[in-house]
Amino acid sequence: MSSIVCHLPIDTQNGIATDARIKKQRPPPLVVSRPRDLIQEACKHLSISDHQLRRIMQLMEKSMEQGLATSTKNVAVKMLPTFVDSVPNGTEKGDFLALDLGGTNFRVLHIKLEGKETKMTGKIFRVPESIMRGTGEALFDHIADCMAKFMEENNLKDATKLPLGFTFSFPCEQDGLTKGKLVTWTKGFKASGVEGADVVTMLRDACHRRKDIDIDVVALLNDTVGTLMACAFQENTCQIGVIVGTGTNACYMERLDRIPKLAGYVDEHGVTPEEMIINTEWGAFGDDGALDFLRTKWDDAVDRESINPGQHLYEKMISGMYMGECARVVLEDLAKQGLLFGGHSDAISVPHCFPTKFVSEIDSDLLEDDDRTFQKTYQILEDIGVEMITANDCANVAYVCSLISTRAAHLTAAGIAMLLNRINKPHVTVGVDGSVYRFHPTYPSLLDAKIAELIVGDIEYKLMLSEDGSGRGAALVAAVATRLKEEKLAAMSSALSASKQ
Ligand code: BGC
Repeated sequence: MSSIVCHLPIDTQNGIATDARIKKQRPPPLVVSRPRDLIQEACKHLSISDHQLRRIMQLMEKSMEQGLATSTKNVAVKMLPTFVDSVPNGTEKGDFLALDLGGTNFRVLHIKLEGKETKMTGKIFRVPESIMRGTGEALFDHIADCMAKFMEENNLKDATKLPLGFTFSFPCEQDGLTKGKLVTWTKGFKASGVEGADVVTMLRDACHRRKDIDIDVVALLNDTVGTLMACAFQENTCQIGVIVGTGTNACYMERLDRIPKLAGYVDEHGVTPEEMIINTEWGAFGDDGALDFLRTKWDDAVDRESINPGQHLYEKMISGMYMGECARVVLEDLAKQGLLFGGHSDAISVPHCFPTKFVSEIDSDLLEDDDRTFQKTYQILEDIGVEMITANDCANVAYVCSLISTRAAHLTAAGIAMLLNRINKPHVTVGVDGSVYRFHPTYPSLLDAKIAELIVGDIEYKLMLSEDGSGRGAALVAAVATRLKEEKLAAMSSALSASKQ
């Protein structure tokens, strides 16, 4: 048996009071797990040095160059052109519908843009797991059904074709603003018959099947693009959009002369734009082995048990869908080694019993609880069913959670710093959104501090929380597309009347 039973409060270790002061009616048994240094030794590979982060930056840029060079087949980081080459200029106005599919919820929004003002009404619908993993047709029927309900409730059913922006937060190979084939599902989705199919056509077909809604899809976009656009609307230095939520991803403004796979591209107005937003799909960084030097046996375990083994390995070290599970497998392993919970590992061995929100709550224990009583941590462990919890265990669990979330923040920082160095403009705003960024207590500051260390030269940057990029951003992309179309029509008709004179 590897735990030590003691009958007296024990001393403070590593600055953390480990005496049994947990304020609970039932005091924790005074069984003390093995000392922190054994835990530290066991977990040392979860800390990433600056040297390793710089190596990640180099490898990621190399992967990105490969993605920009060729069409997507054999590259890990796909670097998908979005066909969004203009950011809002503030004159966008009108009524738009936005659909937002990217996680367990699906949203329908009605958005009115008027100068810098935006009015939004929306409704959230759940996407049941049976639909996420059923047939593609059933998934899109569900989307059309939710949309019809929303339009009915908001008296929009008779509105003449409202322009619609469709935020579809999965990797899509686009060959225009309104066409995109799903490359691969991520984040637990697996609906059949969608990979390789054009999702806009699937949406239109679902609407035709029910015949009572008439829509005009004017833009298909990734949530990162919506995030960038929503921030660019307020801050014209915004060049990067990042999501750290259920999944993770980034997009950025790339110069066309650095996108070899778009050589010779002209848009529908016959113009070659100077820049285009590239959806990096950085979640798949490492799928070709580039991250193997850093991945741990615990990352392997999380990947093995996921719905898409071998895919989106960087995402699996960072995002909300996996962070809790990653902490859980580490804790399970430590318990099995006798370093936690008096060697009892049954409760912590249940897959997915430790969601990412527990990591956030436990990390806030570290932040807020001056006395280090770890009440929340104790409560969480008790709720999971762990039986032999000591004060020392709580401190050690909190330590593991902070390692996992710090690692996630530092890995994301490497990605953002690499993009900032690549863009190399003096002032860049980075629009950020997603549940991990919004709700984890220390993630944003860890991210910010590490980016500052990793950028080179005199670049000034700022992280800006995006206000609902997936909704407002979709309306903005739709609005910009509509404005450009109208401007083109106006230009054509004045050219026509000039030629008649
Ligand atoms: C998807 C991206 C998306 C990101 C954040 C990833 O799993 O592949 O397209 O932007 O999640 O939602």
